[in-house]
Amino acid sequence: MAKNNGKLYVVMVGLPARGKSTVANKLMENLSREGFAVRIFNNGDLRREMVRGDSTQAGFYDPANTEAAALREKIATINIGRARDWIAGEGQIAILDSTNVSRRRRDKVRATLTDHPVLFIECVNTDADLVSASITQKTKLPEFEHMGQVEAYQSFTERVRYYEAIYEPFRDEANSITVDTLNCQILAERLPSPIPHYGRLRDLLVSDWVRSLFLVRHGETHYNLENRIGGNSSLTDRGKAQAEALAAHFAGVAIPYIFTSTRRRTLQMALPMLRDRPETTLVPLHEFDEIDGGVCEHMTYEEIGRTMPEVAHGRAQDKYNYVYPGGEGYVTLQTRVYKGIKKALYLSAAASNIMIIGHQAVNRAILSHFLFRRTEDVPYIFIPQNKYFHVVSTQNRKLFELEQFMD
Ligand code: F6P
Repeated sequence: MAKNNGKLYVVMVGLPARGKSTVANKLMENLSREGFAVRIFNNGDLRREMVRGDSTQAGFYDPANTEAAALREKIATINIGRARDWIAGEGQIAILDSTNVSRRRRDKVRATLTDHPVLFIECVNTDADLVSASITQKTKLPEFEHMGQVEAYQSFTERVRYYEAIYEPFRDEANSITVDTLNCQILAERLPSPIPHYGRLRDLLVSDWVRSLFLVRHGETHYNLENRIGGNSSLTDRGKAQAEALAAHFAGVAIPYIFTSTRRRTLQMALPMLRDRPETTLVPLHEFDEIDGGVCEHMTYEEIGRTMPEVAHGRAQDKYNYVYPGGEGYVTLQTRVYKGIKKALYLSAAASNIMIIGHQAVNRAILSHFLFRRTEDVPYIFIPQNKYFHVVSTQNRKLFELEQFMD
């Protein structure tokens, strides 16, 4: 009978590239900080230590490859045993970080770890773009160094297919929780008996995690000079100088991910930042494209007021809820920007610093996510082109600063 004296086994479940390790690390980082003795037992790490041949080839994960399957089973058995030994001593929370997608494997875990409660956390993410981006990230790991990027991508995709073939999602398995790792949402909970620290764990699973976000607006554009909205204008000389000043300001600061929109002005703003940063990944997201002005795209505010007074009036009355004919409003923009934030946070989960280079309306929508402004105030948040917002939002730290990078 499992004792319930605060010790716990957390067992991750899910296909590769679904955010399991990110969740495991987030739990460990927080719970350790709170004084718990937490340790992760990762089958991938052990595989890299134990397997002398090439275990990055997809065939190593083919269930029909009995030799490799036996080796993988051995690795799992060793890690389960290590977790049990550690928990028998000073350990309090052991996290088994591996796929555990078959019921047979989960039964084995349950049958071996009988001394304390076991909580299964299943990580799901069905966003095809994100899974693909996560696989691309994996292919950059040192273990894929000997393969070309395309070959590594194909090999990892095939590996995922092998796991899909044996994947048995939870049905009624006790002490299991299913998490949508993109949206940080609990999809299902099956907890017939009390699990130690459950409230704490659950809260961590649903909380956004922003270690350090630099939110920048693109520099001055030709359209900005004319007070023209939308379009795909380029930076002016002053805008280019702002881009250079931004890069100079952040010289020496590691920023593993820079997210932009797909518009020329945000990409141009990112260019000097990327110049001396071969390790930085640039990710343009259409979710961060500027508000679509519909029939008013490319017009100046003055032209809109003169030729379409009903638009100017509608915006003046209720700027948040007003939707441009054939375009968007802040109210509709919010949903896609929110999706962009989730994507950016998911992809950059392990990174300390990230940067988003966006637009006026988009940055207002991003900020409102962290600032909890009343909706009617969101379309008026001040978004300068020579300053950036530094946002930190974790369980232990909340920071919000406006910093200047150019006069
Ligand atoms: O003027 C620059 C711009 O980014 C336009 O493309 C966009 O329509 C506008 O800002 C959004 O700001 P507002 O909602 O205040 O018009």
